[in-house]
Amino acid sequence: MNILAIESSCDETGCAVVNDGTVILSNTVASSVELHQKYGGIYPEIAARRQSEVIIPVIDETLKKWGEKKDKIDSIAVTLGPGLIGSLLVGVEAAKTLAYVLNKPIIPVNHVTAHLYSNWIDGKNPSFPAIALIVSGGHTQLLLMNSHSDIILLGETIDDAAGEALDKSARLIGLPYPGGPHIEKESRDGDSKAFQFPLGMIHSGDYNFSFSGLKTAVLRETKKLKTISVKSKKDIAASVQEAVVSILVTKTIKAVIQYKPKSLLIAGGVAANSRLRNKFDEEIRNFNLEFFAPKLSLCSDNAAFIGSYAFFHNKPVNLFTLSAQANLDFSY
Ligand code: KG4
Ligand code: ZN
Repeated sequence: MNILAIESSCDETGCAVVNDGTVILSNTVASSVELHQKYGGIYPEIAARRQSEVIIPVIDETLKKWGEKKDKIDSIAVTLGPGLIGSLLVGVEAAKTLAYVLNKPIIPVNHVTAHLYSNWIDGKNPSFPAIALIVSGGHTQLLLMNSHSDIILLGETIDDAAGEALDKSARLIGLPYPGGPHIEKESRDGDSKAFQFPLGMIHSGDYNFSFSGLKTAVLRETKKLKTISVKSKKDIAASVQEAVVSILVTKTIKAVIQYKPKSLLIAGGVAANSRLRNKFDEEIRNFNLEFFAPKLSLCSDNAAFIGSYAFFHNKPVNLFTLSAQANLDFSY
């Protein structure tokens, strides 16, 4: 089954053709991140305007790279939400138009849960039950997957997402947006024990997360320092990264102990972080389970994981009733 998928929930505009949820036949992503850097975060109107310009070229390029006729498409998948409403509208309306013109079913997709399906691409097939951690710029969720259709939310952030905490901390020490990759880079020769940042809710007894205390603590330290030397920048970055990684790994391993899964999956932009991947690699040696992390190019937003999710959750809807939902929640 060939699914043409469209993703436009944040600043990226993506289109992919995915076969049977596991093989990428064609994949294109256009990012407008460079337009937002001077604002220190995504500027929603600029993102949506750029997406309305690039959506058709991105779809065209994806079809051209695939090289097949449009009648080889079986279904259209699209990110319904959550995300920026102007951005989502561009993708949803483009997908509806394609589904109408090609007379194909349309499958709406929850962007956050879909991140996990980057772990099913390239023929990978994680066994159930699985514990799954989604860590992106907007979301932090810990899930128990008993099957594709039985997914339970164990916990989520009560304030900032993990990526958001990294981005905000990075900004406080003068690193560009998005801060996560720069925090990772600076950390390489920083001392992760130089600053003791708070490990929000690490022992809260549930599976929720809190990262907002971290940026406040970073702000306090930067004020104390007045000017930030090259060394203290590296030390703060390493200490922030270590705090985020410790919280994520501790809570996830707690769920592994409780639920005894066969697989552990991570996904989302922050899953690209090598300290996080390495720490999970070390920790899972104590357990009898397989660890899955997407290849780096599939961690950040793209349409391939949207197409994969749609294959495993193939529930087409009436395209005339479909509209973008900025606040789409986990239960969708
Ligand atoms: O999944 P994603 O591309 O977009 C959302 O759906 O939010 O995640 C973006 C987030 C940003 O906060 C970015 O700083 C973070 O992922 N990120 C990283 C790394 N690469 C991206 N965080 C830590 N280390 C990285 N290497
Ligand atoms: Zn995302």
